[in-house]
Amino acid sequence: TLELNAATSVAAIQPTMYGIFFEDINFAADGGLYAEMVKNRSFEFTLPKTGWLEPQTDQFSLNARSGKSDVIKTGQDQANVNFLRVTVKGPDYVLINEGFRGMGVKVGAEYDLTFDAAVGDGSISEARFELIDTAGSVLGATSVKLSGSDWKEYSGTLKSGGTAAKARLRISFQGTGVVDLDMISLFPRDTWKGRKKGLRKDLVQLLDDMDPGFLRFPGGCIVEGRTLARRYQWKKTVGPVAEREYLVNRWNTEFNHRPTPDYYQSFGLGFFEYFQLAEDMGAEPLPILSCGMACQFNTGELVPLDELDPYVQDALDLIEFANGDVSTPWGKVRRDMGHPEPFNLKYIGVGNEQWGPEYIERYKVFNDAIKEAYPDIVIVSGSGPFPDGEFFEYGMEQLTALGAELVDEHYYRSPEWFRENATRYDNYDRSGPKIFAGEYAAQSVAIASPDNKNNWNTALSEAAYMTGMERNADLVVMTSYAPLMAHADAWQWTPDMIWFNNLESYGTANYYVQKLYANHAGTDLLTITEGGQPLTGQRELYASAVKDAGKNEIYLKVANTGTSPQRLTINIKGAKPGATVTVLTMASDDLEAVNSFTAPTKLSPAESTVALQRNQLDVEVPSHAFVVYKLKL
Ligand code: AHR
Repeated sequence: TLELNAATSVAAIQPTMYGIFFEDINFAADGGLYAEMVKNRSFEFTLPKTGWLEPQTDQFSLNARSGKSDVIKTGQDQANVNFLRVTVKGPDYVLINEGFRGMGVKVGAEYDLTFDAAVGDGSISEARFELIDTAGSVLGATSVKLSGSDWKEYSGTLKSGGTAAKARLRISFQGTGVVDLDMISLFPRDTWKGRKKGLRKDLVQLLDDMDPGFLRFPGGCIVEGRTLARRYQWKKTVGPVAEREYLVNRWNTEFNHRPTPDYYQSFGLGFFEYFQLAEDMGAEPLPILSCGMACQFNTGELVPLDELDPYVQDALDLIEFANGDVSTPWGKVRRDMGHPEPFNLKYIGVGNEQWGPEYIERYKVFNDAIKEAYPDIVIVSGSGPFPDGEFFEYGMEQLTALGAELVDEHYYRSPEWFRENATRYDNYDRSGPKIFAGEYAAQSVAIASPDNKNNWNTALSEAAYMTGMERNADLVVMTSYAPLMAHADAWQWTPDMIWFNNLESYGTANYYVQKLYANHAGTDLLTITEGGQPLTGQRELYASAVKDAGKNEIYLKVANTGTSPQRLTINIKGAKPGATVTVLTMASDDLEAVNSFTAPTKLSPAESTVALQRNQLDVEVPSHAFVVYKLKL
């Protein structure tokens, strides 16, 4: 018998409690959320023809002597320095872009084509663009007339007559001679909010359905880079898309769990787009910036303290970009991109997953400068990756002494660890920083093992653990699962919350657990106890309860990680006798069960109802189950 006190709020739940952590890992941005279908559209990869098939080696080519293409480099170290010079000698010459492990096209859907071209010597008068399937059949096509030796932007529309997950874009030409091409781009017309060259609708929808409290971006280790030169620099990701400088993704081949040599960042999804996405979802934006330390798992390169100014200035300028008046230099950049209103940035992260005295020294410099210019901005500081190791202890002590406001903890642990640590925050120092559990996920095999699965065991263990975060909502004010997304044919890390291919996407069991929490976050923490004690794993039961004051509803969350169903009688002080309770149940005795493209909602909540007997809820919680009970007060 449990006692749920709905009459007394013991703490406020922050609206940021359940959010999302986006990192461009596993092709989550280019090839994922960013709906561009052409890989290496402006020939800027280090191997500049990556993604473009050489006619003589491609199965679709008829005659290798019919032409050639060469990447021409116009400069060094700037954005968009390359273009493709095509020399056409005969009608059989074709160029093919392979997309991001293919291109997903749907029957009846339209695709917007744009490209820049300049016609050189010869008689080239037209370019033909065809979507072809793996057998070479044409699914859709358009021809675009070309003229003039000056660079111009051309456009067209392709309508697909078929559905294919691994289509390609084939280009051929009318006439012979030379034509220069650049920024060859193809987007589905049907994007999130119908924005031209926007985001993939199904993927944003999955995120928006969670009603996330915040969006942290852009990573992860990509913030830090393997080297400082390859860190994420937000200023290179705003302004006209064609002028954004490409970067080799930190999750490209070297030091990877799975090599991905064609992993680059085009930054078509850049900081403006992240802010806009957060705004679309009603989530607080939470950008994280380099603190002058390259990824400590790689080079660990450090910026000397007396050379940290440009890094600190990046943080100050970002706040101006997000919130500044349009008369300020960075506020003007935001306005010129179509958003004169501020984005109302409240949080900024300094460093991703950094630790040791080197971090603390750099954090101090950022903290002083940001607080002096923007005292209301909350700084999120890192604490390293090992939540109970020596460096973690050191970081927490130092950060507490420095008056840090919000510390980002990361933990990738076994399902058992999650079940055994639901009390993790019960005895944390309440006078220290608030906690952002910024990256966590139960690992079915081992951290970042390619064999990890998003199985029910991991999701249920997280659900049990999360009751502990919720019970400590006075301290834990932000939480997010990581990583967020993975392309089924191009991932580097498992497990991941959402899986997608070029056509479809699905939420894992872990996604539905996160969604249940985020959709029932509440505004006030309540107590739920058995004999005066919270349920933190006794008889393998875990529980937490919140109230939504606006909706006047209670959400009681119970996880049963045991093999037997459990009968519970819950006395609800403050409940309306006889009220109808909505019951959202996720349960499976197959702990290895997973969602998949063919069974995308196998593990997802099933809804039923039960009536309160007076103010008592009598229920049987199934074995291996996570249940949310929802009732009107
Ligand atoms: O989520 C994958 C990686 O795990 C992140 O990039 C990093 O912050 C952590 O080590």
